[in-house]
Amino acid sequence: MSRVVVIVGATSGIGRATARAFAERGERLVLAARATQTLAEVRAECADVDVLTVPTDVTEPGALDALAGAATSRFGRIDVWVHTAAVMAYGRFDELPEHVFEQVVRTDLLAAAGSARVALRHFQAAGAGTLILTGSVLGHITAPYMSAYVASKWGLQGLVRTVQQELRDSPQIRLCMINPGSVDTPVYQQAANYLGRVGRPPPPIAGPQRVARAIVDCTDRPRREVSVGRLNAVLRFGFTVLPGVYDVLVGPLMRLAGLSGRPVDAHDGTVFAPNPAGEAVRGGHLPDLRQLARSVPGPPGAALRRWFT
Ligand SMILES: NC(=O)c1ccc[n+]([C@@H]2O[C@H](COP(=O)([O-])OP(=O)(O)OC[C@H]3O[C@@H](n4cnc5c(N)ncnc54)[C@H](OP(=O)(O)O)[C@@H]3O)[C@@H](O)[C@H]2O)c1
Repeated sequence: MSRVVVIVGATSGIGRATARAFAERGERLVLAARATQTLAEVRAECADVDVLTVPTDVTEPGALDALAGAATSRFGRIDVWVHTAAVMAYGRFDELPEHVFEQVVRTDLLAAAGSARVALRHFQAAGAGTLILTGSVLGHITAPYMSAYVASKWGLQGLVRTVQQELRDSPQIRLCMINPGSVDTPVYQQAANYLGRVGRPPPPIAGPQRVARAIVDCTDRPRREVSVGRLNAVLRFGFTVLPGVYDVLVGPLMRLAGLSGRPVDAHDGTVFAPNPAGEAVRGGHLPDLRQLARSVPGPPGAALRRWFT
């Protein structure tokens, strides 16, 4: 019997890649995000499996309870709950409008906590289930101009460790934290910006499919924390062991690698409302090697497609 998988934040980036990856395994899907028309597109991408789409703004009171209710009404159960919904805002802390800062924290920390609460209550009643939250390497290190996002991810890291400790007497309920480094998704262009320069993922950049694979893998082999990113361990080591050196280098490196030269007027990005035109699996920061592999015929092409998926 296929599992019922709820994905919150399924219209873009990692969440959308995760929806496709679970669909390839034949799981039944409940897909949530704000953009109704993009939800319909993702549903079409997952047409081989049973899909329920539930337009949801995770910052609205009661929205996550309503999502769980819709999932159980349709499928009678929830086996896996994945939360990838998030927004970002660039700007110095003292220049970022307070309402933007607070909405990022509401989305990235409080709504992730809300998702966890709803999912865990359901799993406690059912006796089993897997909850997967997406943190970031920025839940272990810091970078300038991303204060609301960094504060949320540190908060989420603390919350997850605490809840994992509370769940030690419920071995059938699994809580996994996925911590990516830079990933090629639209989140950087969709971010609010009060810095004047468009953000971008600093290298090395992973494909969203790689993170999706780690998420799917956690449902077979649950782990407390999974890091996806070749430099994550190095960055954490430098931040922890050489804080003075880290603080000298992080500003120039952020301006060099984490910001493009493209100027941009101040705007709120997708912090308060979705931008369906900007939603996709990839952000366009990496060549789509999977697409290139499609042009290679025969078994070598098939091998390359598997490699890049
Ligand atoms: N990309 C990276 O480099 C990277 C690195 C480390 C960690 N992460 C983490 O990975 C996760 C996924 O990020 P991503 O890069 O895939 O981002 P993304 O492409 O921008 O996708 C974000 C998703 O969240 C949804 N969302 C945003 N606000 C929402 C709200 N109020 N209610 C419901 N849904 C909402 C968006 O849909 P709508 O706008 O349609 O609602 C979209 O489906 C996030 O937790 C992010 O922090 C990403």
